[in-house]
Amino acid sequence: MRFLTPFLSELGLLGLAVVVTAKQLDYSQYVNPFIGSEGPFPGQGYGGGDIFVGGARPFGVAKVGIDTTAANWSMAVLNGGWTPDGNVTAITMMHESGTGGAPKYGIIPQMPLTSISPPVNVLDNLTYNQPRVGQDTASVGYFKTQLQSGVEIELSSSRHAGIIQYGFPEGEKHVLVDVSHYLPGSPSDPNGQFYVGGEIQIHDSGKSYSGYGTYIGGWNNGAPYTIYFYGEFDTEPDTAQVFRGPNTDPMRGYQGLANGEPSFPVYGNLSDKATSGPMNDRVGATFSWSSDAESTITSRVGISFISVEKAQAYIESEIPSWTLNDTVEAAIKEWNEDVFSGIQVPIDDTANLTNVRLLYSSLYFIHLMPSDRTGENPLWESDEPSWDDFYTFWDIFRCTVSFYHIFQPTYYESMIRGLIDIWRHQGFLPDGRSGNWNGLVQGGSDADNVLADAYVKGLRGSVNWTDGYAAMKTNAEVTPYNTYDPTDFSASTKEGRGALVDWLELGYVSQDRSTRCISRTVEYSLNDFAVSQVAAGEMPSEQEKYLRRSAGWQKIWNPEVESLNFTGFLAPRFSNGEFNNSGYDPLYCYGCEWDSYTYEGVPWEYSFVIPHDMETLIDLMGGPETFEARLDLMFKPNTSVQQLGPNGAGISTLMNIGNEPDFATPYLYNYINKQYKSVLRSRELGYQYFKDAPYGVPGNSDAGAMNTWLLWQMLGIYPLVTTNVYLISSPWFPDLNMTINGDKNLRIIAHGLESGYFVQSVKINGKVWERNWFEHADLMVDGGVIEFELGDEMVQWEKGDVPPSPGHLEL
Ligand SMILES: *[C@@H]1O[C@H](CO)[C@@H](O)[C@H](O)[C@H]1NC(C)=O
Ligand SMILES: *[C@@H]1O[C@H](CO)[C@@H](O)[C@H](O)[C@H]1NC(C)=O
Ligand SMILES: *[C@@H]1O[C@H](CO)[C@@H](O)[C@H](O)[C@H]1NC(C)=O
Ligand SMILES: *[C@@H]1O[C@H](CO)[C@@H](O)[C@H](O)[C@H]1NC(C)=O
Ligand SMILES: *[C@@H]1O[C@H](CO)[C@@H](O)[C@H](O)[C@H]1NC(C)=O
Ligand SMILES: *[C@@H]1O[C@H](CO)[C@@H](O)[C@H](O)[C@H]1NC(C)=O
Ligand SMILES: *[C@@H]1O[C@H](CO)[C@@H](O)[C@H](O)[C@H]1NC(C)=O
Ligand SMILES: *[C@@H]1O[C@H](CO)[C@@H](O)[C@H](O)[C@H]1NC(C)=O
Ligand SMILES: *[C@@H]1O[C@H](CO)[C@@H](O)[C@H](O)[C@H]1NC(C)=O
Ligand SMILES: *[C@@H]1O[C@H](CO)[C@@H](O)[C@H](O)[C@H]1NC(C)=O
Ligand SMILES: *[C@@H]1O[C@H](CO)[C@@H](O)[C@H](O)[C@H]1NC(C)=O
Repeated sequence: MRFLTPFLSELGLLGLAVVVTAKQLDYSQYVNPFIGSEGPFPGQGYGGGDIFVGGARPFGVAKVGIDTTAANWSMAVLNGGWTPDGNVTAITMMHESGTGGAPKYGIIPQMPLTSISPPVNVLDNLTYNQPRVGQDTASVGYFKTQLQSGVEIELSSSRHAGIIQYGFPEGEKHVLVDVSHYLPGSPSDPNGQFYVGGEIQIHDSGKSYSGYGTYIGGWNNGAPYTIYFYGEFDTEPDTAQVFRGPNTDPMRGYQGLANGEPSFPVYGNLSDKATSGPMNDRVGATFSWSSDAESTITSRVGISFISVEKAQAYIESEIPSWTLNDTVEAAIKEWNEDVFSGIQVPIDDTANLTNVRLLYSSLYFIHLMPSDRTGENPLWESDEPSWDDFYTFWDIFRCTVSFYHIFQPTYYESMIRGLIDIWRHQGFLPDGRSGNWNGLVQGGSDADNVLADAYVKGLRGSVNWTDGYAAMKTNAEVTPYNTYDPTDFSASTKEGRGALVDWLELGYVSQDRSTRCISRTVEYSLNDFAVSQVAAGEMPSEQEKYLRRSAGWQKIWNPEVESLNFTGFLAPRFSNGEFNNSGYDPLYCYGCEWDSYTYEGVPWEYSFVIPHDMETLIDLMGGPETFEARLDLMFKPNTSVQQLGPNGAGISTLMNIGNEPDFATPYLYNYINKQYKSVLRSRELGYQYFKDAPYGVPGNSDAGAMNTWLLWQMLGIYPLVTTNVYLISSPWFPDLNMTINGDKNLRIIAHGLESGYFVQSVKINGKVWERNWFEHADLMVDGGVIEFELGDEMVQWEKGDVPPSPGHLEL
């Protein structure tokens, strides 16, 4: 069966179509937008990918989709808005995808209702939220759901606007716009977000409305930010009225009306405008159509961080048509041109369509975040691009940004410039950033790794690297103010390196003065290696200093710690230089939380995460043979004893592919020239945990970090971030072309794939390749061909040097 469908809308635009030839495949048909929508319990989101499901564009600002309720707060994952089992509270304009912790966004809503009279209280979503009937439908740029009330919702999105089509059954027809709507955190979560004020004004008898809302908090403890909106209907309503009512949300520190039940709206009978804030009433409006007949009402909504005028202008420029399908088609076209067509694999009778779907679905999820907010920065004037929703670098530095580097060079240069501009105007690079606010920092200042990765691979363009290096030095030298975040009172969680005092004085993060002493020592070491990588070009006199600091992890290597018959582990160390040897067991992290030794992983795992100096690590572990045995144990079932909750994905090996620190671990056999074992381990993980199914990623997708791990696995290479090296593994497709570096072609050929996936030999650009790694310039600058001979035999095909340890230094 063949799936060749030409683009309809392309015909009008052939003037530009040099690359896009007469027929382009519609790759969007292979995207399953529900991968990651459920966890291990079918029909529930808990433990799943926390993904956004709805209308979106690559790196767009608007992500239009439904928000839902939580059946049980202790298992709630409202982060992407959509859940398999929740009831619909609204369709909103902004979402994150793949995040954990307390939600952010779920703002600028509409909700179709078939009654607004008691018992419905428009200020109490529990009185009007709607169960769904049947299965939701989603495809690239399109979403459809059917409410129990009989209303059918279909929607699509442009970069800053959305179009929503309501199919109302016979009877009453209303649309509620509750400006005070947002995705709530669980009542016990100190990082929940809240509404603090807003305005709504009705125009043209209700045919359109405009205003703004201001929101605060969310997982990154963000400061208030304001977003403007403009909405309009294709059919003029018969009644439109604004309302306001006391805000009874239980907002930490700022209770408006303590312990209040939801209030009731007061409709303003003369005014067409309701304004509130900061810190008072909820405001909103209802729009009602009096015709009883079944009918369709369509709405377009634009959003902007700058003004109502801009929000309105986005509708005009991005969604000029009232026909939903026009926007759906434009979305499909944009995704195909900007993203999917960049990778081509054979799609014929012999193709494994599951793998084809995993490929294009991964590409989709990798491009939902961050958000390109160029022209939408309310905080400062700048000619630099503006980006938000880095959520977070702790997740995406490990392999996602390296993918952007080769696959989206234009976007990526823009991101790097935007990052540096944040430092220029706000003092620090972000580790996480959302709602125009830095936070949270889970480990190191991982934007350093991102900048270094871009730098060593030659990204220059319009990036001001003098400032880029200065921004990294701020992370390396300036202790950020303590933010007294309830999740960790000891130091800033907002930006920079909270434990820098320890790091500068001791060269490691101590157990007694700081939290997360082991995992932060590991991350600060790589961060300083990153600084040294950029110093090499920008400030050579400082390279050595940061290289020395990058060996800090060796200071907490305790050769006396024994676990499962191996000795020598990263271990907690006091500021007085002594190790705490009493009762320490690297199989446990004692919570794996903000105040534990290690964050979201146990010391056994972190003890493998030294990508810049594997040579020293292997020595400290006792040499290649012991290293191999120890690495083998990482993959032995029923070895893990630490309960990791939703971060554990039910995985019983110490190796936890559901969490980012272990991303490179299955590939580490390359460092002892046993690449076949890297292939075995990584392939098994890929097959076992990544599926074309709702429970298709092992835990939160983390802004596409999980999906990028799978994508590199399918390409048969893995990048070593902060260096210009890629490890060779084994590809999943017999032939693959990928557009890299703008207009170059990387071709990955796998002969003999049908007989097995172990590498027998490799050629790069026609030459026999005897090492299990290559450098960026070998293939990623001008493109080229990497040709694999695969088979079912595990052979030690490589003879050359093991991958380099560019940060090698023994303390
Ligand atoms: C959804 O609403 C139905 C009917 O009102 C209710 O029985 C159910 O518990 C609700 N589910 C959730 C997840 O809120
Ligand atoms: C909510 O989920 C928790 C954790 O799974 C469970 O212990 C509890 O029984 C659930 N509560 C209800 C009311 O189902
Ligand atoms: C819905 O109502 C409940 C109960 O008042 C509240 O906890 C929640 O924050 C409200 N909003 C949404 C969008 O779920
Ligand atoms: C609105 O109407 C109610 C009665 O329906 C009246 O009591 C109130 O004074 C009116 N408010 C304004 C602002 O006119
Ligand atoms: C919308 O477009 C799809 C194809 O993209 C087509 O199948 C469908 O019939 C169209 N619907 C309408 C109402 O035109
Ligand atoms: C990759 O490109 C080469 C050279 O243009 C071509 O021969 C080959 O068919 C392409 N493979 C795929 C899967 O598109
Ligand atoms: C396609 O690949 C998947 C792995 O993603 C594998 O499980 C499946 O067996 C393959 N299907 C066929 C028909 O070979
Ligand atoms: C980099 O930016 C700084 C100001 O932040 C400026 O002084 C310097 O000239 C810029 N360098 C280049 C090469 O543009
Ligand atoms: C450790 O070594 C002892 C003695 O050789 C052996 O009995 C035990 O099974 C080993 N433990 C593990 C986890 O391999
Ligand atoms: C040493 O570590 C053990 C195990 O984590 C812990 O129980 C103990 O409190 C620590 N000792 C000190 C002095 O912190
Ligand atoms: C792991 O433990 C489970 C449950 O105890 C058991 O069913 C399974 O056989 C064990 N697997 C191995 C490889 O030991």
